Amino acid sequence: NRRVTVRDLIAAKERGEKWPMLTAYDAMTASVFDEAGVPVLLVGDSMGNCHLGYDTTVPVTLDEMTMLSAAVVRGTSRALVVGDLPFGSYQEGPVQALRSATRLVKEAGVGAVKLEGGERSLAQTELLVQSGIPVMSHLGLTPQSVNTMGYRVQGRGDEDAHRLLRDAKAAQDAGAFALVLELVPAELAAEVSRSLHIPTVGIGAGPECDAQVLVYTDMMGLTSGKMPRFVKQYADLRAQMVRAAQEFSEEVVGGTFPREEHSFH
Ligand code: KIV
Ligand code: NA
Repeated sequence: NRRVTVRDLIAAKERGEKWPMLTAYDAMTASVFDEAGVPVLLVGDSMGNCHLGYDTTVPVTLDEMTMLSAAVVRGTSRALVVGDLPFGSYQEGPVQALRSATRLVKEAGVGAVKLEGGERSLAQTELLVQSGIPVMSHLGLTPQSVNTMGYRVQGRGDEDAHRLLRDAKAAQDAGAFALVLELVPAELAAEVSRSLHIPTVGIGAGPECDAQVLVYTDMMGLTSGKMPRFVKQYADLRAQMVRAAQEFSEEVVGGTFPREEHSFH
């Protein structure tokens, strides 16, 4: 009846057990996933695209992240809640990163934070871990760098693959407890997973990662438009919600809702 800890996740890798992670941005959705037994919930800065109506993750602020992370923590009792450090909240250096992460831990109650980059975020990762804040790293496609890297598969070609392996080792050596691999070739993700003792969490990174993550609005079929190939849609909630909203509207306009059983006398 305690929350999942980062040590549980490293122990799972030692036993060869895979685990799932989903994003969540509000207490209600988080409580659904907690009830489903999902052990790790990521308050991703994908909230920018999914919930806040931005085009990218870049505009998301630490205030927004803190508010939504607090809601996810309140909605859960078992899951480990990981809060993303938004763009601009850690790039200035370790001290800024510690200040930002401390807010997420103290004000929102997250159990860990995530930041993008391997070697470039080394000093940040080291200081956070030394200060008692577990860090999940994020390599491969790092959406906060969309303006320099775009959205495409990373780590293709020997040089890029070697850089990714170096970054992964650097993150582990700096004390990260897990590593997201986004949009990298399956063979490379498998090699990274084999060469690290901390778990890799794949998204568009093939089946041999130690864990898998999806953005919940994508896998639940809430996102409109074309999905990337790595997304599997497990539900069709957008169509269901559209239908329910239309039915309600028609019944109100047609005078068939509310009925006697919905009324008081
Ligand atoms: O913000 C997010 O949802 C993420 C995951 C895709 C790993 O960073
Ligand atoms: Na993110």
